[in-house]
Amino acid sequence: MPITLSKSVHQVIREVGEVGQYLWQKGWAEKNAGNLSVDITDHIAITPAKLKKFPVKPIAGLLPEFAGRSYLVTGTGTRYRDIQNHSSECLCVLQISGDAKGFHLFWGGKREGFKPTSELPSHLLMQNSLRKSGAKEKVVLHTHPNELIALTHLSETAGEEKLNYALWSMIPEAKIYVPRGIGWVPYRLTASQELAKETVKALERKHKVVMWEKHGVLAVGKDAIEAFDLIDAMNKAAILYLLCKQTGQTPQGLSREQIDEIGRMFAPKD
Ligand code: 13P
Ligand code: ZN
Repeated sequence: MPITLSKSVHQVIREVGEVGQYLWQKGWAEKNAGNLSVDITDHIAITPAKLKKFPVKPIAGLLPEFAGRSYLVTGTGTRYRDIQNHSSECLCVLQISGDAKGFHLFWGGKREGFKPTSELPSHLLMQNSLRKSGAKEKVVLHTHPNELIALTHLSETAGEEKLNYALWSMIPEAKIYVPRGIGWVPYRLTASQELAKETVKALERKHKVVMWEKHGVLAVGKDAIEAFDLIDAMNKAAILYLLCKQTGQTPQGLSREQIDEIGRMFAPKD
């Protein structure tokens, strides 16, 4: 018995499809790289009787406060480039069961052997952290942006302080759009609890963009476009940095005083 989603959820799905195209065109979404979740709890009204028809798939380690929350998530192995034309095969909508021991998958997931992203436990931890802090952000987006990742391999730009200074010094918008800078998470195994916990700590420090050293980037936004824009702006600064380095010279960069001045003029409101 198929479930009909509201217009607002279809709009969210359209935006996710659009962003999937951008990520692919940028070259940040090779094969199944990246994944995404959206908290759509406020847009879902499914009766307990209907929900019961979709068997619970177990998931370990969830707190009781997750019960009843609904999320749109990408499937593991999904290609971002396929989402726009095959949304019900690449995405699913799930609701955490009343005892928080699993989830009911009640829309999408139409591909053979479909499972939510391998990073689902991390996405849920991050979504919960955003919700508890009262943040307006509903989307958690993970992707593999080339130039930002490259900077995590260079000793002169690896680490939170060095990375942010290099990026902010390239173009004023980097400081304007990401005033608190990128949060740095040292290399941790993909889909591990350690990676999830370190990322949550960075979100608690109010970073909206988080760098996973030698892996990729995660950004949060009120919608998928906003999360994409933040990564795009910072990756542009990374491109400029590497372009300057390719000449064999060290970029002059904006001074710390100039960056601080921008920081004072465009201080974050939240
Ligand atoms: P999934 O295909 O399981 O979502 O993994 C992609 C990824 O980028 C892991 O870091
Ligand atoms: Zn990844």
